[in-house]
Amino acid sequence: MKKDFISIHDISLYEFHEIVDMAVRIKADPHHYHKALKNKVLAMIFQKPSLRTRMTFEVGMLELGGHAVYLSPSDGQVGARESFYDVGKNLERWVHGIMIRTFAHQNIIDLAAAVEIPVINALSDLLHPCQAMADFLTLKEKAGDLSKLKLAYVGDGNNVCHSLMFAAAKAGCAMAVATPAGYEPNPQIVKLAREDGKDTGFSLTLTGDPHQAVTGADAVYTDTWTSMGQEAEKEARVRVFSPFQVNRGLMALAKKSAFFMHCLPAHRGDEVTDEVMDSPGSLVFDQAENRLHIQKVIMVLLMGKTEKNG
Ligand code: CP
Ligand code: NVA
Repeated sequence: MKKDFISIHDISLYEFHEIVDMAVRIKADPHHYHKALKNKVLAMIFQKPSLRTRMTFEVGMLELGGHAVYLSPSDGQVGARESFYDVGKNLERWVHGIMIRTFAHQNIIDLAAAVEIPVINALSDLLHPCQAMADFLTLKEKAGDLSKLKLAYVGDGNNVCHSLMFAAAKAGCAMAVATPAGYEPNPQIVKLAREDGKDTGFSLTLTGDPHQAVTGADAVYTDTWTSMGQEAEKEARVRVFSPFQVNRGLMALAKKSAFFMHCLPAHRGDEVTDEVMDSPGSLVFDQAENRLHIQKVIMVLLMGKTEKNG
């Protein structure tokens, strides 16, 4: 059966740790894998903008001996000019895997159900699993034992927050999420994450108080207050989220050695100050680098072994 990578919730505990461990190996010796996807082609459907995701999937395919084809938001007009189903049925005749960044999460589920080649979620309104895997690789490199960590997430209970909760549940760490009222993470994702983490040592605290969430944390994570597709709400969101800015005062409540994390793009002066973003404990560019290594692993595991691709 072909495999997709749509949510960290879908992968086993073993697979979670294997992806992170293999990324450590691929990062240390990229040349060893330079033919792992020789002559394989990845189609990249983007319905939203991107710097990191596009670059790291495309560079990743090149470094694995394969090739990536970029379909821009206007190129394909997927779902408008042609249904997700029909686009998928075309693409699977030409390529060995599909990466998709879209709005409704259901689009990814529908696409994956339609095709016999692997589908990788490169961000939906609900989840951003490649990001969270890269973030936990970064935490493992910088902090060591993931199960001993306390991760604080401050800001919008959005796609990035959801995937971080799924990753934290698998890693077995303590996570505290602070959001304004009305912007809490999706209760269904919270429930699933708690179930995933019931035997791993995972704990999850949801609060409206950023000070409570950050106190004693090993890492403080934030994301934009206005995600792609929410631009019309920007002004209202800036007002609501202002008390959740990650600044020197908030970081002072975390451990002295605490790291700052952000998936980027950052809106300096809004969710994070320059001072924190550019501080020695900021991991933001390590996180961005690690998107490359983690996605190479995901692509090798999915596209290097399927029947069609074998
Ligand atoms: N973090 C992230 O996914 O960045 P892009 O939107 O630039 O791809
Ligand atoms: N939450 C952000 C993440 C960007 C990488 C968004 O969806 O726009």
